[in-house]
Amino acid sequence: MQKILITGGTGFIGSHTVVELVSAGYECIILDSLVNSHAAVVGRIATLSGKTPLLIEGDVRDAACLDALFAAHTFSAVIHFAGLKAVGESVREPLRYYDNNVNGTTTLLAAMAKAGVKTIVFSSSATVYGEPDFSPIPESAPFRPASPYGKSKAMVESILTDLVASDSAWRVALLRYFNPVGAHSSGMMGEDPAGIPNNLMPFVCQVASGRLKTLRIFGNDYPTADGTGERDYIHVMDLAEGHLAALRYLARTDASPLMIANLGTSRGHSVLDVVNTFSRINGMPIPHQFVARRPGDVPAYWADATYAERTLGWKATRSLEDMCRDSWNWQKQNPTGDIG
Ligand code: NAD
Ligand code: UD1
Repeated sequence: MQKILITGGTGFIGSHTVVELVSAGYECIILDSLVNSHAAVVGRIATLSGKTPLLIEGDVRDAACLDALFAAHTFSAVIHFAGLKAVGESVREPLRYYDNNVNGTTTLLAAMAKAGVKTIVFSSSATVYGEPDFSPIPESAPFRPASPYGKSKAMVESILTDLVASDSAWRVALLRYFNPVGAHSSGMMGEDPAGIPNNLMPFVCQVASGRLKTLRIFGNDYPTADGTGERDYIHVMDLAEGHLAALRYLARTDASPLMIANLGTSRGHSVLDVVNTFSRINGMPIPHQFVARRPGDVPAYWADATYAERTLGWKATRSLEDMCRDSWNWQKQNPTGDIG
């Protein structure tokens, strides 16, 4: 059985990926500082997958902790989710973001190199493209990250690219996620943002549950079909399957040492599409009002995800209806959002 180290494995995308991997026969060991997640997620993973993954509470910036982990286990690969992800916070606290996301990754890579574990899947983001010239965005589009968060992702991509060039033993997959939403269909795992959510789907869920009164739609004067911003929302279970496909790809003898892929659905949905679909599927009205554009927002973008389909044999299959239904199912069963 292959053992995989999952950093950030109790977080939103990590926990869903662990369920997917364990169900596919991998053994997962989670390293997470719990800065943005709860240890109780492990119990949910166990219920859903039938196995309890080992959780090591630790920080990817702690070299001694990593050395001990690599000495105690023989890993065939690492999936590196651990990092901070709030764009606005990264503008206010850039050093914290560069330390966590960039220094955290170089510390991890040094420990991996020392232990001879040279296969890694990295969580990158469509935010590296900034405001694109056109959509769908291919992987070859120029980088224009606008925030310290986005820049930290672009920096790590460069570091991993240099590493592959320096040593042909490395196998690296850079996965650029578009807008991850949704939850496990059981309603037992989902997104658990601290405080008032910044992102659209968690905000919509909290309006539906009555925790928040009204959704403010940021701008209805964009050059889009209905005037509201368009994004490529992707179901978190599709993303989880994308990680499984990436691991399998990197294990192939003919794999390219550096694989860079967009993970998206290749289509955009407007804010009003999300609101109307959520209301229709869940029978919950979402009171909303139009307000000014949010500074820094891009009018519209979506992925060209055809490379992932060709290379990984992976394609997102879940619809916006699935995303809205599963998000609400999770929120309904966990009204305070908190696991544990
Ligand atoms: P999340 O915050 O739910 O999960 C990240 C996990 O990493 C958390 O459990 C947190 O406790 C842990 N962590 C953070 N810093 C750590 C450190 N230094 N050491 C150990 N653990 C640490 O976020 P997520 O949505 O699951 O995102 C996972 C990854 O995907 C992140 O790298 C994020 O930047 C990236 N990403 C997320 C999105 C998104 O919208 N959710 C989009 C694109 C890329
Ligand atoms: C943001 C991040 C991106 C991250 C993504 C995760 C920025 C600039 N980018 O993208 O790095 O990967 O989240 O999902 O912050 N909206 C409203 N009202 C709300 C919230 C959002 O109208 O209360 C609109 C936004 O204007 C946008 C759309 O909904 O048009 C999606 O917003 P959001 O979920 O925050 O994601 P992004 O801004 O695309």
